[in-house]
This record gives sequence, C-alpha cells and structure tokens, in this order.
Amino acid sequence: MKVALFLAGALIPILGLHAEVIDDMEIIEAPSSTGHNRQSRQLFTNPWARLTGVFRDQPAMNQPCVTKEGEFGVCMGINECYPERKIFQINREDTWIFGQYNTCSVDASEGKQIIGVCCARAFPQMPTRISNEIDPERDLAARKCSPMPTNQKCTYNGRRIVNGQEAPRNAYPFMAAMMRVSSYSNTARQFCGGSLIDESHVLTAAHCIEGFSASDVKTLKVYLGAHDIKVGSRSEHSVIRIIKHKDFNPKTLVNDIAILTLETPATMSNTIKTVCLPTFDSTFTNQQVTVSGWGALNEGGRQPHVLHEVDVTVMSNSECGGKYNSRIPGRIESSMICAAGYNKDSCSGDSGGPLYLKQSGFAVQVGIVSWGIGCARADSPGVYTRVTKMMDWIERIQRCY
Ligand code: ARG
Repeated sequence: MKVALFLAGALIPILGLHAEVIDDMEIIEAPSSTGHNRQSRQLFTNPWARLTGVFRDQPAMNQPCVTKEGEFGVCMGINECYPERKIFQINREDTWIFGQYNTCSVDASEGKQIIGVCCARAFPQMPTRISNEIDPERDLAARKCSPMPTNQKCTYNGRRIVNGQEAPRNAYPFMAAMMRVSSYSNTARQFCGGSLIDESHVLTAAHCIEGFSASDVKTLKVYLGAHDIKVGSRSEHSVIRIIKHKDFNPKTLVNDIAILTLETPATMSNTIKTVCLPTFDSTFTNQQVTVSGWGALNEGGRQPHVLHEVDVTVMSNSECGGKYNSRIPGRIESSMICAAGYNKDSCSGDSGGPLYLKQSGFAVQVGIVSWGIGCARADSPGVYTRVTKMMDWIERIQRCY
C-alpha cells in the first residue's frame, strides 16, 4: 500500500516533465525559473543540519530525479538506495561519499547542497531520456490545443501570396541565426540557421537541436534582423520550447524538421519579417530557388560573419536519388527536395535555414537545409526537407504551441 501511494505520487510530476512526446512531436521546454524557485524553496525549508544522518522522513526526499545515465530515479538516502553497503550513519564531514554516486542536490543560499542520491533502483524504468528539472505545473498535453494566435503568418497558394511582405533585394528579413551561448565565456556561436514563420516560431532542422536537454534550450539565442552576426543591430530572442519531429531519424535524416518557440514574439520591421509558406503542392523541379545562411563559404572553409545567399536549381527526386541512393544509409525520400548549381550549394552552418522561391517579390520557403555529401560537389546536390510535405505538422505547431 505504501509503495503504491509513493509511486502514484512520483508519476504525476513525471507526466508534466519538460520533455514529452505528443503525436508526432517531441517537445522539450526550457526549465521555467518560477517552477525552479518553487521547488528549491520547498526543499530549502529543510535545513541542511537536519538533512544529515537520518533522511527517512524528509519530504524533500522522494522527489523524482534523473541519474547521470539518464535513468529515472527517486531522491533518497544512500542507505536506503544501497542497503547492502551498510553505510549506516553519514556525518556532515562524510558527505563526500555521495560524490561517488548520483547525487540529489538543492540550490540553497549557501550554494549547492547534497541531500542524498538519485536512486534509479527504486524506480521502474521508462524508455525516454529526459532532462533534469521537473515542474508538475507544466502539462503540455493539456495545453495541446488551446490555440495560440499568430497573426503574421504568410501563405502562398500557388497563385496568391497571403499576408506577405515584400522581400527587397539583398535583404532576407525572415532569416534567423541560431546561436549557442557558452556559460563559461558568455560568447555566442552561430551553429545553424532558421526562418521566421510567424511572430513566435522559427522553423529549422531537427539535426540542429538533436540531443538537446531542457537546460540546453536555455543556452539558445535566436538573432532576428541580423546581417553581420558579430556587430550591428539585431533582435535577440530566448527560446522557451523546441519541438522536433518525432520521426526524425538522425541516421537517414528523414523528417529533419523542428520548430522553436520564442520567449518574446518578434516585432515586425524593415529588417524582421516572416517568410511565406506554400499551401499548394508542386515538385518545383527545374525552378530556380535561393538559399541563404551564415554557413561555410566552401567545403571545410570558414564561416562568414555576414549573411550570404546563393541561387540553385531544384532537381527531381528521381535524379537526386540516382546520384545518392547507392551511397547513403537511407534514400532520397518524398519528404526531401534536392537543389544544386554549378559550384553553388549550401554548406555546414547553413543547416536549418530556408530554401525559397522568389515569387513576385515574396519569398516562399520550399526547403530546410538538411544535408549533402561535402559542399558543391558535382555529384552531390544539397538535400533539403520538403516543406510542402510538412505543412500539416508546421501548422499544428503554429496553432497550438
Ligand atoms: N548538415 C549541414 C549543417 O549542419 C548542412 C549541409 C548542407 N550541405 C550541402 N551540401 N548542401 O550545417
């Protein structure tokens, strides 16, 4: 009976984790500072002195936790977790013992305080790898379809651009630079591109955020309205949520698509505008398209500080498959679109950025930079996620997250 009650109590917060799979989305939320404080405060009401020795009755214990190995566990005293080791009494001086184990700690005003070990033995294991912080108040599934209004969406049905903004020459105001800020040096490094699809969402590639934990989401910054990513004006946005296609396969790069939700919505201006998304289907074969980004200027080369663009031509999937299928782990799928040009291609660092048609002054995104063998090699076109095949997924997220 006691066991049953305890498990029920531990499972409820786990349903509200920062990482969740809902339908065909894998959602990872940045830990909220309020949730974090609340939990810390609750733990902090147990003074350290009383936590040494007998842990058994501390309410701070029995909190769900995740071990270094990514397994679910429960915070408990070391004796409880390892009864066979008979470390009967742990004095304050002996807390170093915990260092050999997965520790459960609390951020208290005196700094990090260890309260016990994260005991995976006590918990039935679940398959998904999750990250550290847990906030029972966030229930993503419950929020599933309370629509979030987005009023800067632009669509193109093949004949008419809806709600578009003119894309002036040499200006790609929908370009997003994805930056990762190092907590040591506080410097930001560009690692991928993206495109602004409405005021709160940036479309990018799943491989750009593969393996991100909730705390990694906090290290992300999106620059909008940037040209030179080292200097000059831009709008910097934190990210509260990343949503990756559940069927993204990092080996074959199929379904290489993800969406970031910005903490503060973008304000539209001359330098910040949304890209248009196609609501019609077409193969786009032989059409001229453009790709832009801050990626390397040639294979193995350096990345520029300023945004570059290049025009390439869409190749049919059968021609592209003929070039690639015999030498890749997967194959060219219908959810991919290939484009190439003589000595022209996207390259590393451009991933996640848009491939778009320039249609009567508007940019209509048809691809997301995904992969290629090398860059601009004659036998290896650039491969992109085919946006027309992903419109349902994209629109669902725009509406709901
Ligand atoms: N995967 C690369 C990145 O992470 C982009 C590769 C695009 N390659 C190409 N040849 N078009 O930035």
